[in-house]
Amino acid sequence: MGSTIRSLLLVVLVVFVEICSVASQTDSRDSAGLKALMDGWKNFPPNWQGSDPCGANWVGISCTNGRVTSIALSNMDLEGTLPGDISALSELQILDLSYNPSLAGTLSPGIGQLKKLKNLILVGCSFTGAIPDAIGSLTQLVYLSLNSNQFSGRIPATLGQLSNLYWFDIADNQIEGSIPVSDGTSPGLDMLIHTKHFHFGQNRLSGEIPEKLFSSNMTLIHVLFDGNNLLGKIPDSLGLVQSLEVLRLDRNSLSGSVPSSLNSLTSLSELYLANNKLTGGLPNLTSLISIYTLDLSNNSFDPSGIPPWISGLQSLSTLRMEYIQLQGPIPTSLFSPPHLQTVVLKRNQLNGSLDFGTGYSSQLEFVDLQSNGISAYRQGPQNSIQVILADNPVCLESGPKPAYCSAIQPNSSFSTLPDNCIPPQCGSGMVSSPKCGCAYPYTGTIFLRSPSFSGFVNASIFVQLQQDITGFFQQRRFPVDSVSLSNPRENLTDHQLLIDLSIFPSGQDRFNRTGISFVSFALSNQTYKPPKIYGPYVFRGEKYTHFSDGGIGSKSSNTAIVIGAVVGGIVLLLLLTLAGIYAFRQKKRAERATQQNDPFAKWDTSKNSIDAPRLMGSKAFTFEELKKYTDNFSDANDIGGGGYGKVYRGILPSGQLIAIKRAQQGSMQGGLEFKTEIELLSRVHHKNVVRLLGFCFNRGEQMLVYEYVPNGSLRDSLSGKSGIRLDWTRRLKIALGAARGLAYLHELADPPIIHRDIKSNNILLDDTLTAKVADFGLSKLVGDPEKTHVTTQVKGTLGYLDPEYYMTQQLTEKSDVYGFGVVMLELLTGRPPIERGKYVVREVKTKMDKSRNLYDLQEVLDSSIIVSTTLKGFERFVDVALRCVEESGEDRPSMGEVVKEIENIMQLAGMNPNTDSASSSRTYDDASKGSGNPYGTESFEYSGNFPPSKIEPQ
Ligand SMILES: *[C@@H]1O[C@H](CO)[C@@H](O)[C@H](O)[C@H]1NC(C)=O
Ligand SMILES: *[C@@H]1O[C@H](CO)[C@@H](O)[C@H](O)[C@H]1NC(C)=O
Ligand SMILES: *[C@@H]1O[C@H](CO)[C@@H](O)[C@H](O)[C@H]1NC(C)=O
Repeated sequence: MGSTIRSLLLVVLVVFVEICSVASQTDSRDSAGLKALMDGWKNFPPNWQGSDPCGANWVGISCTNGRVTSIALSNMDLEGTLPGDISALSELQILDLSYNPSLAGTLSPGIGQLKKLKNLILVGCSFTGAIPDAIGSLTQLVYLSLNSNQFSGRIPATLGQLSNLYWFDIADNQIEGSIPVSDGTSPGLDMLIHTKHFHFGQNRLSGEIPEKLFSSNMTLIHVLFDGNNLLGKIPDSLGLVQSLEVLRLDRNSLSGSVPSSLNSLTSLSELYLANNKLTGGLPNLTSLISIYTLDLSNNSFDPSGIPPWISGLQSLSTLRMEYIQLQGPIPTSLFSPPHLQTVVLKRNQLNGSLDFGTGYSSQLEFVDLQSNGISAYRQGPQNSIQVILADNPVCLESGPKPAYCSAIQPNSSFSTLPDNCIPPQCGSGMVSSPKCGCAYPYTGTIFLRSPSFSGFVNASIFVQLQQDITGFFQQRRFPVDSVSLSNPRENLTDHQLLIDLSIFPSGQDRFNRTGISFVSFALSNQTYKPPKIYGPYVFRGEKYTHFSDGGIGSKSSNTAIVIGAVVGGIVLLLLLTLAGIYAFRQKKRAERATQQNDPFAKWDTSKNSIDAPRLMGSKAFTFEELKKYTDNFSDANDIGGGGYGKVYRGILPSGQLIAIKRAQQGSMQGGLEFKTEIELLSRVHHKNVVRLLGFCFNRGEQMLVYEYVPNGSLRDSLSGKSGIRLDWTRRLKIALGAARGLAYLHELADPPIIHRDIKSNNILLDDTLTAKVADFGLSKLVGDPEKTHVTTQVKGTLGYLDPEYYMTQQLTEKSDVYGFGVVMLELLTGRPPIERGKYVVREVKTKMDKSRNLYDLQEVLDSSIIVSTTLKGFERFVDVALRCVEESGEDRPSMGEVVKEIENIMQLAGMNPNTDSASSSRTYDDASKGSGNPYGTESFEYSGNFPPSKIEPQ
């Protein structure tokens, strides 16, 4: 009886403690703010219950220290408005409510209170009214996406104050008035010198494009002003924005002649000037050597022949010059640019005969010469080219009409195919996925705003996009099994290319709300960036109706709540008491059961007496599983190795790539060391540290399963082995990433970790060139906070070894700082730290002369960075590196200080350490082939803690 009373008391205590902790997890301001949102909305997620959003893991809500930092609720079918009470959420950094078409009303100026906001993303809702001036006070803002709503009014001049703004998208609204520029007293958009994207298309903007808007300080890459009512001349100053890659001014009322300054935009790949009132002679665009698409159609240029410079544009893929009074013959050289796919010259006065000659582009697919004066067509072997000559003299002859006399446009229906499997019959509205499972996909449409290909008869372009999107989701461990694309179609007014996208869930047949909000955010926030040929895009998600986590949340009446609460409370207490007694009795039995179900029971304890490791988020694999995933450890999957054994690439059944480090017989770590590495790595979660997914300690094998990092090591890139060119800005980004990873290990990991073997071989690069610190085989925990060092046998790699550690055998974080300093010097010289008997630290110290430019180090620098740029921040970089390799650990900075210093250097170099912390490597070896990244060397990644990092691998 005594024990029953004791357990009863225990239950009461537990309940009490739970109630207290429930009440305390979320800051009351945030609970109140979210409650207000809830009151303003229908269809909020069903687990939005109670008053502790952070503690109860409300769908779409992320918290840090009890404060709400992110609200990501795209495509939740929310209905209502965005109340001003949102201003209570003063720590909010991300607000994404995209694709909720029933969210309407005006934006409250209260939004201007969210001073920490970095991402404000409201794509595809139904908001109306003016964009509040108050948004201009959100100076941390990096992404502002208000596209596809019904906003009206003017662009607030205050937005010119958003000095961190990177992405500015207000396309597809009803915004009117002129584009504001600063005038000494009020701000304007000319001040946005860090912004890369002005997406203002499909609005009602009017007036002239101010000459003042553009300057050489700007770093814009996309200027999309198409589909407005802009008047007057194209400003000369556009030619100053040398970074510009896509310029769309089509479908306005621009007049006057095209300024010759445009010819200096040598990075420009897309130029759309169609459907304006431009006059004068055709512009001379000889210097646009990067141009893929040139569209001058429907303007009032003076009559002219086909300009000879066109055939010199070596990148040209699409040429549109419809209805601009072109006359005279068509030179065969017109078809010679090697990537030319589409030529539309209809409704001109071209005459003579059409002859492709022999030197025409092998990619040529479509030539539309409808309504000209062509009198003959010499059809050669070029059958693959679709030619339209309808309404030309050559088609006016009597007799049977050849196919080229029909005016029918090419049309293609296309869907990506299943992945080598037979699609099953799926019941109840489910759809067969590329991997032939049945599921309810998340669907939507991708709008490519200016693709640089046109012949979409070529299916491989879509297969590549499908693979790219799939790879993106899988690499980041989104709950996505596969994606398929279908039904590509061109919008003939604005030449946007629309493609339907279906995203299939992994592990189950439908997404839950969290999954949808993550996937939507990746697309609404442009976290996913396609290769450059696809150009800028927007995604519009369709309503998802198959959530696995139940129906919609809804409100019951207050009386019901009160009665429910009272009755429920009594019943609950009784139930809890009974359950508590039961639970107490079951406790022992349950413990036994857990042991039997232990996922780590495969831990091989037969050889030693070490307990299985305590793991967080990683799993034990059997030998058979890994054997299967690596195709029996085949040579084809052998991707390198070292003294300890080999590294294999493998693929999980989910499609995720993994890297498996397999110790060879005789070089096994001690069981203890192995266990240490597993425990350590499984606790470490940081973007710049390689992630452990699992291990195998089974059948006498020791294997570690890591996330696969596709671009190899930094050493591979520096030596030229990987084919990735590292220019100065990329080197800075890699240095920053690696420094952040290491600083995390030293300062934020719990317990702190000393790496002990920092070297360029242990810094891996992913496909966005994000640096990831790898290989903790030798890591040591810094156990006792009182102790500042760990005495241990010296381990490490020659060249990176801290001399002080070597002498004293006392290991501190500063030994890693030394190794990192050597890596920084290696980034400068490109060579291994010890080469032909020369040690990089000594070389740099002796050669350098601080009074001279670049410290007079040109001789030892990697030639590939000297040629590339002006090396902004170079001297400070050398200074930091040399401080890191000071003889005495005390004189070296901490990794946290190194991070700050590299961030400062990046700012000096005109980069934004928060958005430029990684960059796409898709531009590397074949930028000229047009498969680079549309966004140049910068990146979209939000470097904060967005929820996707919390999705665990299954
Ligand atoms: C076009 O400009 C280039 C220099 O930018 C010049 O060499 C060429 O002669 C010009 N062509 C015409 C037709 O004016
Ligand atoms: C083609 O047009 C030009 C100008 O319109 C004219 O001078 C020329 O004679 C025409 N050539 C032919 C073969 O009709
Ligand atoms: C289709 O496109 C791919 C690359 O985009 C190219 O390699 C291939 O040659 C093209 N095929 C045809 C038939 O044009």
